[in-house]
Amino acid sequence: MVNFDENLFMFEKLKLQVTDILKTPHQETNQKLQAICNLLKDNVPYYDWVGFYFRNGNKEELILGPYAGAPTDHTTIPFGKGICGQVAVSNQNFVVPDVKAQDNYIACSITVKSEIVVPLFVNGENIGQIDIDSNTINPFSEEDERFLEYINHEISNIY
Ligand code: SME
Repeated sequence: MVNFDENLFMFEKLKLQVTDILKTPHQETNQKLQAICNLLKDNVPYYDWVGFYFRNGNKEELILGPYAGAPTDHTTIPFGKGICGQVAVSNQNFVVPDVKAQDNYIACSITVKSEIVVPLFVNGENIGQIDIDSNTINPFSEEDERFLEYINHEISNIY
């Protein structure tokens, strides 16, 4: 079981580091997003795959952006398909404590037990999302949601 207070402390520290990454001069947006993926995967013990998906222009599909973790075959996801595709349509966070309980789910790896997807809004428009897979069952709390919302909000400022 994850310790709530320890997690809060960890998230506060990571938030400062994310802000620093986003302020790095002379760096492409994708390099910054890659650094954020690496930071989260390396520091949150139950984040085993961290990536960004973005809407592909005006098409109703998501394209994989920077990620940290095992490569995935699912580099394009149609709107409505899987957890990611559902978030592209709902504009809502989607917390999946147990992926086995989901019918509309795209498996990327057999080790994954849970997932959280939080949309990224720029000027009120859902342009993509951060997607986290975990090999732990039911690890995500509201603190993860607030943390990932914060990160996406900070990222929205560089778009
Ligand atoms: N599981 C996701 C697909 C993306 S992988 O987790 C990297 C889904 O159901 O949309």
